[in-house]
Amino acid sequence: MVVVDTDPGVDDALALVLLAADPGVEIVAVGSVFGNVSSAMAAENALRVLEWAELSEIPVAVGASRPLDGSQPPLAHAVHGVDGLGGCARAAPPRLPASESAAGQLVRLVRQHPMRVTVVALGPLTNLAFALTLEPQLPTLVHDVVWMGGAIGVPGNMTGHAEANAWNDPTAADLVLNAGFKLNVVPQDVTEQAWATQEWLEGITDSPGAHTLGDWLGTYIEFCSRERDERGCILHDPVAAAAATDPAIVRWEPVGLTVESAGERRGATQVQRPTRPESPGVRRRTLRVAVGAQIDAVLARIRHAVLTI
Ligand code: BDR
Ligand code: CA
Repeated sequence: MVVVDTDPGVDDALALVLLAADPGVEIVAVGSVFGNVSSAMAAENALRVLEWAELSEIPVAVGASRPLDGSQPPLAHAVHGVDGLGGCARAAPPRLPASESAAGQLVRLVRQHPMRVTVVALGPLTNLAFALTLEPQLPTLVHDVVWMGGAIGVPGNMTGHAEANAWNDPTAADLVLNAGFKLNVVPQDVTEQAWATQEWLEGITDSPGAHTLGDWLGTYIEFCSRERDERGCILHDPVAAAAATDPAIVRWEPVGLTVESAGERRGATQVQRPTRPESPGVRRRTLRVAVGAQIDAVLARIRHAVLTI
């Protein structure tokens, strides 16, 4: 069982599609979070993507609208378009979001299905931090968490020090990374290698059914191509989604991670060896970080997903 926590966002949309098309994955719920767009718009976009993937029965709950420190980070309009889907999310969302919060939804599901839920987190970790306050035993109820976030040995894409998901809520990231979850972190170091050329993207979006997906990608391709000599885009979140469905697609190393909460180094992820001692009553923490991925296999999964949905 998978709960996706997400801020769609074009790469989030493709990650959702990848998960939706995998016969081994049962997406039981989606939670939205601020990040690329507001949490309300992220929920609407998740509903649009699920509708496109013919998964209109999956509930989508609205999550946190700002980080734990109360600040209001800028949204990524220049990256993913003003509406998060390349300015093409014009139609009203197909249905209403759920009446519970994303954190409440997650807590309810893991209490109903202890140790069966994998959380695939594709945005800031604010909802997971809220869920921890609602249910302190969350790390022993969740099977595992896969998070796209952090920049360890590369300059961040938000600031020189920080990747966007870590920067957007560094307090939540530090809390969740050190709360005792079985955690799989897929950092920007690995995800930025997932470059899809425009030609490859056109190859998967030229069917009438996939034109919508092609439209969503437009602004993101423009943004990602600015400083490259080739047109295309980086598919961060699909790498994490692929790692959740097939952990062997990624090479992992066990480490500890902390996140700087403020100042110039806000959102910077630091590797800690050895790991911090775990809190009393919490089972031994296992945190591992992706250090490499079979990018061709990730792209093949996206292609298969888009062509089969
Ligand atoms: C992450 O930030 C967001 O813009 C993307 O959707 C991805 O989750 C990449 O740093
Ligand atoms: Ca995202």
